[in-house]
Amino acid sequence: MRRVVIVNGPNLNLLGTREPDVYGRTTLAEIEADLVRLAEMLGVQVSFVQSNHEGELIDAIHAASSEADALVVNPGAFTHYSYALRDAIVAAGIPAVEVHLSNIHAREDFRSVSVTAPACIGVITGFGPRSYALALRAAVEILEEAER
Ligand code: DQA
Repeated sequence: MRRVVIVNGPNLNLLGTREPDVYGRTTLAEIEADLVRLAEMLGVQVSFVQSNHEGELIDAIHAASSEADALVVNPGAFTHYSYALRDAIVAAGIPAVEVHLSNIHAREDFRSVSVTAPACIGVITGFGPRSYALALRAAVEILEEAER
C-alpha cells in the first residue's frame, strides 16, 4: 500500500486556538483524523509528524525518503526562509506537495515567498483544513499516474 507522510512545522500544534481568524478553529488532531478517513477511502496509508524544530523536521523528511512514497508538507514559517528544509525535501527524492491553511499570497509580503515550494510538485494554499485533503488527493493521483 502506498504511504504518505504528512509533515507539519512550527506552531501548527497550536491549531484551534492560534489566530483562529486566520487559521480557523479546527485542531491538528481533527485535521489528522479527517486525513486518516480520507486515506482509507483512497487506499493509502498516512502517518503524521509535527515539530517546532527545524532539525527534527529534516530528520523526519530524511526518514520518509525510505519509508514513504510521497510527502505532504506544511513547513509553517520555515516556508519563508529554510533552505535546509528545502534541501531535505529535494534530497528525499519522493514527490512532495506543499500545503498552507491560509493563502500565503494574500497576507504580509514576507509570506508570499516560499523557498520550499521549488522543491515540491506544487502548492495548495488558502483552503483552510481542506488544503490538506486536496494535497493528499494530489499526492495520491501523482503516485497513481507514475505507476501507469
Ligand atoms: C502557514 C502560513 C505560514 O506563513 C505561517 O508561518 C504558518 C502557517 C499556513 O498553513 O497558512 O505557520 O504555513
